[in-house]
Amino acid sequence: MSFQIKTFEEYQDAYKRSVENPEEFWGDIANHFFWKRKWTKVLEWNFTEPNIKWFIGGRLNITENCLDRHIYKNGDTPAIIWEPNDPSEAHRILTYRQLLDKVEQFANVLKNNNIKKGDRVCIYLPMVPELVIAVLACARIGAIHSVVFGGFSAQSIADRINDAQCKLVITSDGGYRGAKVLELKSIVDDALMQCNSVERVIVLTRTRTPVSMIKGRDVWWEDEIKKVETQGNPPCPAEEMDAEDTLFILYTSGSTGKPKGVVHTTGGYMVYTGYTFANTFQYQPGEVYFCTADIGWITGHSYIIYGPLSQGATSLMFEGIPTYPDAGRYWDIVDKYKVNILYTAPTAIRSLMAFGDEFVESKDLSSLRVLGSVGEPINEEAWHWYKEKVGKGKCPIVDTWWQTENGGHLITSIAGVTPEKPGYALLPLPGIQPCLMDENGNEIQGNDVSGNLCIKFPWPGMLRSTWGDHQRCKQTYFSTYENMYFTGDGCYRSPEGYYRITGRVDDVLNVSGHRIGTAEVENAINMHSDVVESAIVGYPHPVKGQGIYAYVIANHHINPDQTRQDILQTVTRLIGAIAKPDIIQFVTDLPKTRSGKIMRRILRKIAENELDNLGDTTTLQDPAVVEKIIEGAKQLR
Ligand code: PRX
Repeated sequence: MSFQIKTFEEYQDAYKRSVENPEEFWGDIANHFFWKRKWTKVLEWNFTEPNIKWFIGGRLNITENCLDRHIYKNGDTPAIIWEPNDPSEAHRILTYRQLLDKVEQFANVLKNNNIKKGDRVCIYLPMVPELVIAVLACARIGAIHSVVFGGFSAQSIADRINDAQCKLVITSDGGYRGAKVLELKSIVDDALMQCNSVERVIVLTRTRTPVSMIKGRDVWWEDEIKKVETQGNPPCPAEEMDAEDTLFILYTSGSTGKPKGVVHTTGGYMVYTGYTFANTFQYQPGEVYFCTADIGWITGHSYIIYGPLSQGATSLMFEGIPTYPDAGRYWDIVDKYKVNILYTAPTAIRSLMAFGDEFVESKDLSSLRVLGSVGEPINEEAWHWYKEKVGKGKCPIVDTWWQTENGGHLITSIAGVTPEKPGYALLPLPGIQPCLMDENGNEIQGNDVSGNLCIKFPWPGMLRSTWGDHQRCKQTYFSTYENMYFTGDGCYRSPEGYYRITGRVDDVLNVSGHRIGTAEVENAINMHSDVVESAIVGYPHPVKGQGIYAYVIANHHINPDQTRQDILQTVTRLIGAIAKPDIIQFVTDLPKTRSGKIMRRILRKIAENELDNLGDTTTLQDPAVVEKIIEGAKQLR
């Protein structure tokens, strides 16, 4: 890992070089990876179409970088440590050699099931090692994976499968999550009633939940493995990929419409996740690294699978939830495996804080060296608790800011190398050129200023497109400001030049670190037969960061309690339980401008209970509507 930055001076040098000569900078880093053929040019780009290409002409397979190249020296090093949901079940360890064998074996299963380079494969699995195996097996043969988080509903899966025209789905009979069993196969069955592109479903046994296996379509994972064994377990050579071949699609919510499929390609994503993993956390050989994210989100893709494995690290994955069987579960895991680096989300920290300090104080956490935070702004109280109670005041905290579209960390402290400051993501990593923009499209210079956060120059891990709709990519990220990638986040730059992310400036919510589009939730609520119209806003929530507040106009004959339950059920069905509103207020009207646009600013203020500061309401069609909504809100509190 000789591209690790060790001192603040080295950081400054690397940063300077990355800006002055980005091609040389990234070319040097890419040389630390294994390429079947080297690139002829490091970068070609414009942010107008946009057209972004890294390591042009380079040929590689990411799994050779994540697996094969470690075998000779470190074949017996644990690649994946798996901790089950139920602490009394045996854990599993897969060394690099074992993981490679399993990936090759399952890659042959995919081939036997007619999957070829470029085909799309939907993966809907719980957090078991087979999820990592399935992802890497796709990458081995050049199939494009589209992992769908286990909390999404049948409808959401169907939308994602249809958008990407997936040929194959990989799922399990069920999944354990705390005390609950999720019936994953049955959810997939519901989804597939709407999907014509799917030819085959491979079903892993996990919970022995009864499932209906459809003849000609559904096969068991274990049976397919046996077939490969009877074929003599042949190796599965890695497909040679172009650096710009698509590696995966991951769906994420935006301010309008349905979730879009963010497209990541092979070479740049590999270089960027490997580089950022090694640097941000300062991973040292032999250390145990535990990222608590689900592989259904980008954090799991980049920092459970690709980043750590490309660096030969030991990546711990956990099937369950932080509060099962009790609120000490993370600390038990840290103690049991002597975890050195813990990477989790503020929402988990806040929820565990609420259970009191006994859970964390009774465990031996002395192995911890670095703590990471991701997914949402971390409030000072949670930051200090993490620092003192978990890290015993001795572990640096890296607050990593980035997005699904970015592939890897953009603005973050580097553990023990750059300073830290509660609430601040701090400084851009080498290669990242952030800037703050004002409403008129001008860059805001200097420090102690706030603006909309943009990035001026490409980095290898950035998205290349949105699946099937390049215009949408252009529109969403590259049209707000000329020649800039627009993040959708607001940001403050302190007098020292440190960056603090202040949250989304668009209609995207961040609930427990999960990204949710207000339009998506409104569309789901509006599907309910008694709903006329709805408006969703976020409000500060002590544990989730943001909660979902729904203002709903319903037919007047309804029974509010019953309809509230029905609406929750509708959202769960159409999106998933993660998008359920926390508060539903029935209203008779919504505040609208004369042109009929809902004034969300006012609804946000009411949801936040900031009634003194509603701003100008004179442009409303009917300002009296606001008073009525305030009255209704008071009754709900
Ligand atoms: O608003 C920012 C917030 O999460 C958004 C990206 O969400 P997603 O694509 O789901 O990726 C989450 C994990 C990378 C951002 O636009 N966000 C993410 N990390 C931070 C953050 N906000 C503040 N501080 C962070 N460290």
